[in-house]
Amino acid sequence: MSATNLGWGHHYLMCPPDHFTVEYAINPWMTADEPVDPKAARDQWGGLVGAIETAGGKVSTITPDPDLPDMVFTANAGIMADGVFAPARMRFAERAREPQLAAQWAAGAGYEVAEVGAATFEGMGDALPFRDRLIAGYGQRTKLRAWSELSENLGWDFTPIELRDPRFYHIDIVFSPLNDRSALVAPSGLTSAGLRTIKSVVPDPILLTDDEAQSFSANSIVVGETVISPAASPRLRRELERRGFTSVIAPVDEFLKAGGAVRCLTLPLDIELGVELAQIA
Ligand code: ARG
Repeated sequence: MSATNLGWGHHYLMCPPDHFTVEYAINPWMTADEPVDPKAARDQWGGLVGAIETAGGKVSTITPDPDLPDMVFTANAGIMADGVFAPARMRFAERAREPQLAAQWAAGAGYEVAEVGAATFEGMGDALPFRDRLIAGYGQRTKLRAWSELSENLGWDFTPIELRDPRFYHIDIVFSPLNDRSALVAPSGLTSAGLRTIKSVVPDPILLTDDEAQSFSANSIVVGETVISPAASPRLRRELERRGFTSVIAPVDEFLKAGGAVRCLTLPLDIELGVELAQIA
């Protein structure tokens, strides 16, 4: 059976790394050992923008804030779908202000900004579409209850997946949709029930080894037929090519020092789940 490309992933919100540093530790990858090299960070971020544009995608930017070093990880600021932006509720105080700034950006850019409940959820770091549903992580940063709150308020259909490993604290480190049949899936970060649920939804998963997962290979994005990854083993590249993708590497080592890579640095703006907010009672 032939697969249909993702209908989204051509337009992203990104935040220039002017103030990117690692100055606190809220995940196991963040340590004081290796300071960020600001020039390398700028070059790598620019390289990612270039890779997206070369693949036919478009990048919009938000103004960075000097007090928010993790603001470069725009994926966590909220969920954008059907032209509606649901601002995140960050788990840690250090990042609490990022969703407000993203909501201001979204309103200014003409998107609708939704009311969200009280439960913690870290935006598209923990929710990625597969066909017309969102595969949604919980158990590390996001609280399970957030997904039912959002589904009641906004009508989006969430499939909750429990995350079990602090190294893989967001679903976007263990799951990346590729088209309507395939996704990158890292079993290392999933419970057996979570893996079973994903396999029941995704007919043709590419399962990643623990090494591939630790190199953040699942933190990839897809622009049309191009998969842009922070790293990909020869085996993974072959698996992607066999399914008709071009595999492109955008090195983002500076950002891995904060526990984030290609997906975390990009918030997709063009997801359509087919829910009209006006239709929700
Ligand atoms: N330092 C950030 C944090 O721990 C990195 C976020 C990575 N983002 C992602 N979507 N996984 O919150």
